[in-house]
Order: sequence, then C-alpha cells, then structure tokens
Amino acid sequence: MAEDTPEAEQKSATEHKPVYYGDYLRLGQLLSCQHPESERLGRPAHDEMLFITVHQAYELWFKQIIHELGSVQAAFAGPVLDDRALTPVVRSLDRVREILRLLIQQIDVLETMTPLDFLDFRDLLYPASGFQSWQFRLIEIRLGLRAGQRVSYDGKGFNERLNAEDRARLTKAEAEPKLIEQLDAWLRRTPFLSHEGWTFEEVYRDAVRGQLEADAAQLAANRTLAESQREAQLKRLERELARFDALFDEASYEALRREGQWHMSRQALQAALLITLYRDEPACQQPFRLLSLLMDIDEEMTSWRNRHALMVQRMIGSRIGTGGSSGHDYLRAAADEHQVFGDLFALSTFLIARSTLPPLPKALRRAMGFSYEDAPDAA
Ligand code: HEM
Repeated sequence: MAEDTPEAEQKSATEHKPVYYGDYLRLGQLLSCQHPESERLGRPAHDEMLFITVHQAYELWFKQIIHELGSVQAAFAGPVLDDRALTPVVRSLDRVREILRLLIQQIDVLETMTPLDFLDFRDLLYPASGFQSWQFRLIEIRLGLRAGQRVSYDGKGFNERLNAEDRARLTKAEAEPKLIEQLDAWLRRTPFLSHEGWTFEEVYRDAVRGQLEADAAQLAANRTLAESQREAQLKRLERELARFDALFDEASYEALRREGQWHMSRQALQAALLITLYRDEPACQQPFRLLSLLMDIDEEMTSWRNRHALMVQRMIGSRIGTGGSSGHDYLRAAADEHQVFGDLFALSTFLIARSTLPPLPKALRRAMGFSYEDAPDAA
C-alpha cells in the first residue's frame, strides 16, 4: 500500500528527485562534444560531423564492452566460479557479441561519406588515428591479445603513439589478469576429465587417432590428387596428428607451445574438448555456451578488423594512414594475426562425429546430469 503521510512524501522526495530526460543523460554535455576541425579553421566540411559522431558512438560502445568484460572478469577472479554465476557471465558475453555486430554495421553509415568528401578534411586529422583509441586497446588486452603477437609497422609498439595518461592505463591493464588466462584456470578445474578409473585422455586419444589415421589412408589412396598435392596434404595431416598427440603428452606439448603452436594449457584444452564433445550433458551446457561466445567475440573482432580494413582501402587506397602506418596492408595483417582464442578454433580439427564418440561411464553421466530421483515428490 502506498505511504501518503507528509513525512513519507518528504522522505521519498529526498531519496529520489524527479529526473528530467536531458539531465539524466547529460545531453547538454554529450551534445556539445562535436567540434569539427574544419569549422574551427573556417573551411567547413559537411561530412566531418558524421566522422566525429561515428567515432564517438564507437567509443561509447567500447565503454559498454569494457563494462561487461569487467563483470565477466570479476566473476572469474575468485578461486571458484559457482555454476550459477555463469548465467550473468554468458549474458554479458552475449551482449558484447551483439555490440560488436552493431559496430560492424556502423561502417555502412560511415561509408555514405565518399573518399572525395573525406579528403575535404582528412589533412586536418594528422597525426590522430583510431590507432590511438585506448579503449579499443584495452578491450584487446583484457581479452588476452599478447603484446608479442601484435603486428608492428615501424618496429615500435602502439604505446609510442599514445599520450602519457593513456599509456599508463594500458600498462596497468597489461599487468592485470587477462580473460584468456582466467578461462584457462577455470577450464583446468573442470572436474570430469577423470572419474573412477576412467580418463577422458585415454578414450578420446584412441578415437581421434583412429579418425586421423583413417583420413591419412583415404588421402594416400586418392588418385584424383596430383602427387605433390597429396604429399603436401599428408604432411599437413601428420603435423595435425603431432599437434593432437601433444595434447596428451606434457613434454611435446610444451615444445609446441614454445614454438607458438599452442598457447593455452594442455589441461585447459582437454577440458574445452570434453565440454565441446559432451555439450548436451547438463553440466556442459553453460560452459559450452561460454566457449562458443568467446569464439564468436573473437570472430566478430576479426570481422570488424577486416571490414574496417576494406573501408580504409576504399577511402584512402594505398596511402599511408594518418597515424603513419601502411594503412590497408597493416590493418589486413592485424586482422590475420590478432586472434585471441585461436586455440579454441584449432580444437575443431580434433572433433569426431557424435556417432563415434566414446560413451561416458554411467556414473559420470549421472554426475554431469540433473537427477530428480531423490526428490521427495518424484513419481
Ligand atoms: C574514414 C574512415 C576511417 C579511415 C580512413 C581509417 C583509417 C585507419 C588507418 C589507416 C588505420 C591504421 C593506423 C594509421 O596509420 O592511422 C586505422 C586504425 C584504426 N582505426 Fe580507423 N579509420 C577510419 C574509421 C575508423 C572508425 C570509425 C573507427 C572506430 C573507432 C576506427 C578505429 C580504428 C582502430 C581501433 C584502429 C587500430 C586498428 C589496429 O591497430 O588493429 N577507424 N584506421
């Protein structure tokens, strides 16, 4: 029932003042942040407003992504992640993926500006560049892009092009846990890799080895391929087999890891395989969603990089960027190299058809499921 005494009215008025739309959103401040350089210099270029608006909209969305990643990382920060906490984690990652999709679409709006329109004000932007977006770098770092993995275009890091304040923020972020590391630690704690004498490692290794060897035999017998093609493909298969075997042997795994062929830990990747293969078991359903979302996010980031690179090629051809890079060439290389969850993608090579999947022991299936048999009302 509503309280309507004068005291109660006064109390609610001090706790919650009526809010006005424009004040709540600080529209006065927000809408006074668009200052085209071309106007300031007395040679107004109509499209610079679009250029500023699109960039600012990006930065707002980057802020939201960082906010979501913050809560995901906080959930992963403790020694244990309660399964119930996975629901908000999955929801935040889902949101990040959708925002990234939106960011790719925004390029269409920017492309209503033609290269000639852009030239009306491009010279006024030097040496500023999206390359200096600290929020974009923070997202990359938080996800787990390694400093040594970055494509460099002048032998220097991107940090060199940032002011002291932005550089300090990112240096701090580099020292903090990355989502990929937290994921690795969480996967390593997966309880179902062994159960009462049964080990995932043993049964799965045999099943996949059999599959990869059958692929090799099929390839060797394929007379439609030229000898050189067949040999090249067989070599690739052998490499994959070695990569797979290493997942079950610490010493060879570490050797491949040092070569950069794997990045996550062996135990974490085994757990990711188990979750992917047995994703229908209730205990694996949310973890599977989580892994899929991380791959989606990686994929959307790559799609954005590719889409941005294409737009840049369309806008400036093969000119160098305002930030000084080779422009399109640098951006394409970054799109190829800046994948974070590549190990999860690589696992697909080692999946086998569900029909050939080794069955889980009964007790383990029970442990991975929801059982209502002991519930008082069970029929
Ligand atoms: C006319 C439109 C645009 C052009 C011609 C353009 C051009 C470029 C170029 C040439 C680079 C490479 C660095 C350099 O030499 O400057 C770059 C990097 C970048 N730009 Fe853009 N850009 C445009 C729009 C945008 C928009 C709307 C965003 C959204 C925030 C953005 C974000 C970025 C980011 C984050 C990078 C760094 C990418 C990386 O290092 O992987 N750009 N841009």
